[in-house]
Amino acid sequence: MTFVAAAEAPQRNTGQIKLYDQEAAFAGMRKAGQVSAACLDMLVGEVREGVTTGRIDDLAREFVLDHGALPACVGYRGYRHTVCTSLNHTVCHGIPGDRVLRSGDILNIDVTVIVDGWHGDTSRMYGVGDVPRKARRLMDITYEAMMRGLAAIKPGATLGDLGHAIQSYAEGERCSVVREFCGHGLGRVFHDAPNILHFGKPGQGEILKPGMMFTVEPMLNLGSPAVKVLGDGWTAVTKDKSLSAQYEHSIGVTESGIEIFTKSPGGLDQPHALLPG
Ligand code: MF3
Ligand code: CO
Ligand code: CO
Repeated sequence: MTFVAAAEAPQRNTGQIKLYDQEAAFAGMRKAGQVSAACLDMLVGEVREGVTTGRIDDLAREFVLDHGALPACVGYRGYRHTVCTSLNHTVCHGIPGDRVLRSGDILNIDVTVIVDGWHGDTSRMYGVGDVPRKARRLMDITYEAMMRGLAAIKPGATLGDLGHAIQSYAEGERCSVVREFCGHGLGRVFHDAPNILHFGKPGQGEILKPGMMFTVEPMLNLGSPAVKVLGDGWTAVTKDKSLSAQYEHSIGVTESGIEIFTKSPGGLDQPHALLPG
């Protein structure tokens, strides 16, 4: 795989890894990332028993439009909503609708916004009412897995180091890592090279460089890693119906490590941890 200066590359996925300007591009990504993160902050008080996933999508769309942003998923490959709402054994890409949230549900909300052409892509887990201990544990482990992946990122480290940090921790906690979906480069392009696998071997894969921008978004299951996509063409669920969780940040690689563009402005990076008990 080759690297290219983003300013000289076509604005599409050419299979090359774009290297961005750490002043101008990072500033754009920071702005977009902060709108997406603020949207997830706003939803913390809205995810509760009796609320539909469609209502959450409406609130997210209003928030995004009110903050000078566009919902990147609307019109993306025929998708029609601002967020994905992935409940319980849904791994990702759950479609908002008339499903009413019930006590015990766990929910991933994934939002992607565009501000001045830059993408902010982030997701978090939310709990509803009285959430079983094993579900809380899965959410804790998934957040920690993402953070360990992020901690492995610095110039000179490899994508395999990142994947290994996530996989070795997750499997050590008896959770499995989904293989079919991955993180991705992003910037002016939503899903760009490279693919960011959440599993791997130390030292393998591309060497990380300052100016890269991508997401880390591991999906962990309590049971088998196998997934299937439902007939709607979007909703991915665990084959064995075991619970699944996901967290996602958008980041840029700096000289010494990373900048997290999607850090919560309200300190609400782990809504699931706010559950009582
Ligand atoms: N936000 C998702 C991601 O992390 C992509 C959702 S695409 C959609 O890459 F069309 F389903 F919204
Ligand atoms: Co996302
Ligand atoms: Co993403």
